[in-house]
Amino acid sequence: MPPAEPDLQALVARIHDELAPRFGAGKVADYIPPLAHVDPRKFAIAVVTPEGETFAAGDADEPFSIQSVSKVFTLTLALGRLGDRVWDRVGREPSGDPFNSIVQLEHEQGRPRNPFINAGAITVADMVLAGHTPREAIGEILRFVRFLADDEDIAIDQAVARAEHETGDRNFALAHFMHGFGRLTNPVAHVLGVYFHHCAIAMTARQLARAGLFLAAGGRDPLTGARVVAPARARRLNALMLTCGHYDGSGEFAFKVGLPGKSGVGGGILAVAPGRAAIAVWSPGLNAVGNSLLGSEALELLAARAGWSIFGG
Ligand code: DON
Repeated sequence: MPPAEPDLQALVARIHDELAPRFGAGKVADYIPPLAHVDPRKFAIAVVTPEGETFAAGDADEPFSIQSVSKVFTLTLALGRLGDRVWDRVGREPSGDPFNSIVQLEHEQGRPRNPFINAGAITVADMVLAGHTPREAIGEILRFVRFLADDEDIAIDQAVARAEHETGDRNFALAHFMHGFGRLTNPVAHVLGVYFHHCAIAMTARQLARAGLFLAAGGRDPLTGARVVAPARARRLNALMLTCGHYDGSGEFAFKVGLPGKSGVGGGILAVAPGRAAIAVWSPGLNAVGNSLLGSEALELLAARAGWSIFGG
């Protein structure tokens, strides 16, 4: 007999209630000042299924800064434009280093390990920028995210984008280093303009889960019918999210949650249960490696109770 379908609304409500006594746990990112001012007790979980049902609990209608989760969307765009040529310029291996580390870049001649560490995402921003002005590229990314979420009401938080620029020493260092190796084709200022703006996209958990639904449905948006990417590409995006989506916490996330996922320092995580659902969680407090502490725990509970781990069990 197949296992009973989980009651997803009851499940997300119970996870919310169980974690509620610990809302505020973890450390909110403060190196981008506007992120430090977000209420650390916020918590959201949203689950969207290929059938079009949404189950949510907590602050699921409040926009937050998606930060590095946006790297999934820019990579999808770059793959659409360049195909496998993307992999000439960026690797596909976990880095085992923090998201903003520069150490590997020197050994590897400015070719980033994967598209989700900052150096890799900056390279991807350079690809999306090619042939465009920064303003056009930023507009294209935002339009793409709105298309994926089927929601025009998604915007860039300009204050966050400005603050990223003002406090972006490490990203400038990474970009200049790669430029020095001849790895970027556009001026550093333009590339980082694109990068900072896509990190500053604000979305609700509901919108973020909806935008990731194509990854749970073989590359097709099951609700609009739009073919976003080929099934093989969706599969590979999921593989990269599993192996690289949480930086030096990727192994731990795979071990505990067992789903492809991408985190951001705003406290959001987009996770994919292939064939079942796209899930977004938000809790601003981060763990020691910069991934949402309670967000990861919420996903661990959900994956275990719904039986969604891609590893079975
Ligand atoms: O470039 C940065 O540092 C931020 N805009 C994004 C970093 C991030 O979200 C890392 N994820 N956990």
